[in-house]
Amino acid sequence: MIWLGIESSCDETACAVLQDEPLKVLSNPLYSQIDEHALYGGVVPEIAARAHLQKIAPIAEAAVKEAGIELKDIDAIAYTTGPGLMGPLLVGASFAKGLARDLNIPAYGINHLEGHLAAAWLSNPDIEPPFLTLTVSGGHTELVMEEPGFKYTSIGRTRDDAAGEAFDKCGKLLGLKYPAGATISRLGKDKNRKFVEFPRALHTHDNCEFSFSGLKTAVLRYTETHDPQFIQDNLGDICASLEDAIVDSLVSKTINALKKTKMKTLVMGGGVSANSWLRTRLQDYCDKKGIRFCVPDRSLSTDNGAMIAAAAIRRVKQNKLTSIDVVKPWMPLAI
Ligand code: KG4
Ligand code: ZN
Repeated sequence: MIWLGIESSCDETACAVLQDEPLKVLSNPLYSQIDEHALYGGVVPEIAARAHLQKIAPIAEAAVKEAGIELKDIDAIAYTTGPGLMGPLLVGASFAKGLARDLNIPAYGINHLEGHLAAAWLSNPDIEPPFLTLTVSGGHTELVMEEPGFKYTSIGRTRDDAAGEAFDKCGKLLGLKYPAGATISRLGKDKNRKFVEFPRALHTHDNCEFSFSGLKTAVLRYTETHDPQFIQDNLGDICASLEDAIVDSLVSKTINALKKTKMKTLVMGGGVSANSWLRTRLQDYCDKKGIRFCVPDRSLSTDNGAMIAAAAIRRVKQNKLTSIDVVKPWMPLAI
């Protein structure tokens, strides 16, 4: 089967064409709205919805063209139903359903977070639940157990900000452009992670929960009590220390969850899963304990269309996918 995956939950308009047997990403173009939001230091929902509206058709066309297929070759569509921004989600859903109706094929709604984890499955298609999952994105930070049949149990989550949000907001305080995660990682590479002792919230608590709002306050205090030139001169070391604080929290709570659940496989997904320091730290622990660690190809860590189609394919393989019925004629509206 040939799948078209559509992702429009936040600030990327993304479409991808995947084939299921053998599993392969045939194309995965996206339009990033980052420049349109950069001016405001974060995503503006109305601007995002309008940009999706303008870009979704051209990106879908590009996906089909790059895959070397024609629209009529698509057998099914998968699109993001949430969580995400209402306007952007509506644009993706309307486009998916309209196209599905036109092509007389089914359209399937997919959970965005399941999509992030399916990106790791694309690189490790033989993994079988049960396993522990860590979703780390701009909007979510959560440890969830997945058992056969897509049975999910939350083990712990953030009490306030998400890890990606912490990177972005602390980055903003340091004068970095949104989204700041990858920039902080780049600036902090091989720098002094002990330069600033930023707080690790809930470190002494024997739980699997995260909290990053205190870190944000600590960075704010740091910028208020240090000379801007000093911060500029030592930005690499400050970024390294900040990255270490966020990664430390993620690693220690994930280790706690692995111990509590006794899982032998850890699956990570979401934009922050692109972070090299986080990957290294978790890989080291998993290697020591004989735990299998599955991550997405770095290019598939952040939002993309391939992960949405992949999640649908994964569900089809386990008979756990229901479509909205787009092939029946619309019912006339009762007036
Ligand atoms: O999954 P994603 O693309 O969108 C959401 O679903 O939220 O994640 C975006 C988040 C942003 O906060 C961004 O700063 C962060 O992922 N991010 C990173 C890296 N690449 C992206 N954070 C740390 N290190 C990275 N290399
Ligand atoms: Zn995402």
